[in-house]
Amino acid sequence: MRKINTFTLNITVAILDFLYQGRHFQRFWVLEEIARAPYFAFLSVLHLRESLGLRGQWHTYLMKQHFEQSVNETEHLEIMESRGGNAYWIDRFLARHLVLVYYWINVVYYWISPRAAYHLSYEIEIHAMETYGKYLSEVDASDIDICSVMNDEMHHAQELYEAMRIIDPDRLTVREKDRKPFPPDVSDLDSVTLVSSVEQK
Ligand SMILES: [Fe+2]
Ligand SMILES: [Fe+2]
Repeated sequence: MRKINTFTLNITVAILDFLYQGRHFQRFWVLEEIARAPYFAFLSVLHLRESLGLRGQWHTYLMKQHFEQSVNETEHLEIMESRGGNAYWIDRFLARHLVLVYYWINVVYYWISPRAAYHLSYEIEIHAMETYGKYLSEVDASDIDICSVMNDEMHHAQELYEAMRIIDPDRLTVREKDRKPFPPDVSDLDSVTLVSSVEQK
């Protein structure tokens, strides 16, 4: 699955690189529009699983993470819009059709294999971070907004890496061996786990 993720991403990046040569903020806007979709998809699946009684141990933690990431990506989108990223009809047309397809791909992908879906988004966040880094080093090193967006993308990648680490390959539950070293939010712990973790200290 990871090879398919990397292959798909490389092809998509090559197409976008070709289409958006020299049009930095249009390219960033399209990337941000698409990059938000997985977080909506993850939240949708988590809500649905919860409604079906399939809540995993870190369900609440993951929902909080993905909600915050989706809000943060919207802030990035607003920055790109303030720089004229969505000024042209053709860019809006392309991004809004791509995002519809990409959202549903992520819904299905996350339901079937959450870890593989996280890996795809992880690769995209790494790519976004590198794209902004390249802009800063080659075009405008003093662009504080882009520097801030680049740091956010790095945090998103780290959060997705943690999410990949804690969940079972094919289920939104946590591997037994990872329960103790990873308590990101004690409110997610059931009382028995919480008491035993306190007693161990
Ligand atoms: Fe972003
Ligand atoms: Fe991001």
